[in-house]
Amino acid sequence: MEIIGAVAQLFFFFGALALANTLWAYYQSPIKKIPGPFLAKFTNLWRFFDNWGGRPELTHQLLHAKYGSAVRLGPDLVSLSDPALMRKIYDSRGQFRKTEFYSVNDAKVGSTIISNVFSTRSNADHTQKRSLLTQFYKMSHLLKSESLVDDTIDSFCKHLDRFADEGTVCKMDEWLLFFAWDVISQLTFSRPMGFMDEGKDYSGLLGTADKALDYFSVIGQIPALDKWLAKNPIMPIGPPSFDAAAGFCAQQSISRQQAGEKTEGKRDMLDDFLQLKKQNPLTMDDNGVIGAVLVNVLAGADTTAIVLRAVVYYTLKNPIIYRKLQQELDDANLTAPLAYAAVSKLPYFDAVIRESCRFHPGVGLLLERIVPDTGLQLADGTFLPAGTKVGMNPWVIHKNKTIYGQDAESFRPERWLRNEEGGETDEAYAERLATMKRNDLCFGTGKRVCIGKDISIMEMYKTMATLFKNYEMNLVDPEKEWHVQNSWFVRQTGINVKVQRRKPIIA
Ligand code: HEM
Repeated sequence: MEIIGAVAQLFFFFGALALANTLWAYYQSPIKKIPGPFLAKFTNLWRFFDNWGGRPELTHQLLHAKYGSAVRLGPDLVSLSDPALMRKIYDSRGQFRKTEFYSVNDAKVGSTIISNVFSTRSNADHTQKRSLLTQFYKMSHLLKSESLVDDTIDSFCKHLDRFADEGTVCKMDEWLLFFAWDVISQLTFSRPMGFMDEGKDYSGLLGTADKALDYFSVIGQIPALDKWLAKNPIMPIGPPSFDAAAGFCAQQSISRQQAGEKTEGKRDMLDDFLQLKKQNPLTMDDNGVIGAVLVNVLAGADTTAIVLRAVVYYTLKNPIIYRKLQQELDDANLTAPLAYAAVSKLPYFDAVIRESCRFHPGVGLLLERIVPDTGLQLADGTFLPAGTKVGMNPWVIHKNKTIYGQDAESFRPERWLRNEEGGETDEAYAERLATMKRNDLCFGTGKRVCIGKDISIMEMYKTMATLFKNYEMNLVDPEKEWHVQNSWFVRQTGINVKVQRRKPIIA
């Protein structure tokens, strides 16, 4: 009994100490005045459970509507929605470094922790990792491999033809995902992953990717937990690892090197990375090549599928937008395969894609950064000292009415075009457009902007133009809402579509 009493006293003592510590931290906090949920002022558990709930982007929007442009989401974390701060927080030099949230995305191989170009928090390491690769992700370079995307679009159309001919329902959310994984694999290795041919997640890779993201988004709210869970050296507890994907990438790299230089066929990104290794053996070794192709595979598919789904869903939900889009595509005299250069010049189509990216951005959490030594002054004069964590959520900034207008909550592609009826001048339109583009966080911005942006853009424009030109699509139940789950990537399910063939494009 005495022992139990002593243990109880010890618990009480440490409990009281922890409480006193929390209260002291609260009263001393330099960001005490910033409004936010009561519990979030004391503990990160608040945001941990909010993320667990699966729709933190909605919570963030509601909180900003209630409290204004600065909301405290944790003891030392402030969510911001102020266009004036965009270029400051996400500058081209990376003065505001990424927070520990991103380290949860590091891989653990044996006892070694390996960061990647997305997860690294060191500017020097990031520059070293990214500078070699950037050249291969530029649109001018990617357009040389456009035919690899055409091949995958062709396969996609064959599957859609089958749905049309059989009159069966196409689960478009799944098929766009299969397609996106096959495209990125085609661009990287000149071969699809095979998800479309199998018509299912035959390798379990897609399920694994979802679980890894569920872990990343929730545990990332209290990154210290990761050291006890997935990065725990004794018995790791966490999502299934990407060993299978890494193995696939390693195998592709080895067989390509064993087969010697490709003399025929299309050049892909693995060729680019191996060439880089030859030219810079000190900075790009075999692991570097595998890491680079792995980033493509893991970061390039889910994200693009999300935007593709948004384009299809919102267009089908809005018949007037659908008809306008189809009319523009029909009038455009396009020839197959649809070239990126041709479809990216169609103004209404371009507006639909931009609006989809704005309305349903692929990433739905704060792009967290640490305030540097200079501190950060907010519009109302509040000063955030060095070390405070800040960030903007694309879902919040994209619905900001000062940037996107009073109807920012509606899906309206026309906002990207000049308002001729309203008498908008060219100058006024140019300024409004520049403001909207400057605050577009779909792909992030500044030093850590998405490296794969141009891949996705090429893929989205070509695929969506082909789909809307070649097929008449209808939602099986136009009243039904899709299901959304925010695990950093804001994934959607439940887009059931009936597909009919239209007059095919002339080659
Ligand atoms: C529609 C598709 C995509 C969306 C919405 C998207 C979104 C984003 C966002 C918001 C960021 C910034 C993260 C931050 O600042 O915290 C980012 C970074 C990144 N993305 Fe993407 N992405 C897409 C496609 C791709 C593709 C195709 C690839 C690779 C082939 C890719 C690879 C990366 C990498 C490596 C980073 C980190 C860049 C750095 O820190 O330097 N993404 N992406």
